Amino acid sequence: MSRIVLGVSGGIAAYKACEVLRRLREDGHDVTVVPTENALRFVGETTFEALSGKPVATDVFTRASAIPHVRLGRDADLVLVVPATADLIARQAAGRADDLLTNVLLTATCPVLVCPAMHTEMWQHAATRHNVETLRSRGIVVLDPASGRLAGPDSGVGRLPEPAEIVGIAQTLLDVDVAGRAAGHDLAGLSIVISAGGTHELIDPVRFIGNASSGRMGVEIARAAALRGARVTLVAAHLVVPVPSSVDVRTVSSTADLAAAMDEAARDADIVVMAAAPADFTPCSPSATKLKKSGEDGLTLHLTQTTDVLAGLARARRKGQTIVGFAAETLPDEAALAEAGHAKLLRKKADLLVVNDVSDRKVFGMPDNIVLIVDAAGVRDRVAASKAVVAHRILDAVITHRATS
Ligand code: CTP
Repeated sequence: MSRIVLGVSGGIAAYKACEVLRRLREDGHDVTVVPTENALRFVGETTFEALSGKPVATDVFTRASAIPHVRLGRDADLVLVVPATADLIARQAAGRADDLLTNVLLTATCPVLVCPAMHTEMWQHAATRHNVETLRSRGIVVLDPASGRLAGPDSGVGRLPEPAEIVGIAQTLLDVDVAGRAAGHDLAGLSIVISAGGTHELIDPVRFIGNASSGRMGVEIARAAALRGARVTLVAAHLVVPVPSSVDVRTVSSTADLAAAMDEAARDADIVVMAAAPADFTPCSPSATKLKKSGEDGLTLHLTQTTDVLAGLARARRKGQTIVGFAAETLPDEAALAEAGHAKLLRKKADLLVVNDVSDRKVFGMPDNIVLIVDAAGVRDRVAASKAVVAHRILDAVITHRATS
């Protein structure tokens, strides 16, 4: 359980703060809501109090004996602002302290996650750009808003990211010390292409050969890279998890589709990550019509090997490109995993390989993972954590690799 202050400022997306609050409480966190006065024009105090189980104050004079304007910020493990209006961001950047929320923001020493939502013109205005840069330079994590429907008939950039997305990022900031790298956008200017999910190889129009990959690891890498300022393309095979709004998504189905999409997307990429689970075999001649049962005989499928997408990408790599692969192995211990991973890295000519033990369905679809990150010199890192944390450690390894090669 962590202590979270949820700041809410006065924009139409304030109602989504209720969903963020509900999810944080469901995850077991202790949440104090600090709305601005204008936020209470959109969502009533009673709603925040009922959902958080705590009283709500907007000014520094309510229950002043408890010194809430200093204590709340100082005691918090995370301060989250959902939504942050242009005005709140301006007041925060200027160091103002004219209500309880800005006081909390001035006294917080923990990670601070600001989730802006406003009209496109306001987000793109030089004043807001400048204020956001100021906050980022001070280590505040400011999410880029999503594109989509805004208040009224308008649509464009400025929409609040989905509550589930915000809560996922908040949890990552609680789990791993990544706020500085996220605020500093240490992947800014880099383009990264990530494949995720399992492929489907058609047997007939309704049946396919698939695998147990959920796509969660690749999606977490995409989310982490976007948070750290990279331009992200996610080549998504079949996923059972939602994709982040901050990334460009290309959907594919078979290994052949995946290979074509990756070849194209990788041409301009600085970093390529093959986290997908492409099928190694595909039916030689899928039936154009649904196969019928034929008496007592079973069905024999003739399969042919697919192309190795990762090895192909490594062969076609352009100068300065970093290629990251994964290895799914079923081996008895970490020494054997490290050895198999290293051999696979050399065989496929990847720069880094992330080795998973997939025996007993320990990895597929699970939120946690244990991985070894291997390069040509051997094991670089061992991570036992949530896939979100693993994703950041993989990106750390990529940055180190790029700096040293
Ligand atoms: N991979 C790929 N194309 C394939 C199969 C796998 O690009 N047709 C990639 C995976 O995305 C992963 C890496 O290769 O990054 C290793 O995948 P893995 O399943 O561990 O190995 P395989 O190449 O399938 O080899 P084997 O199953 O024989 O160990």
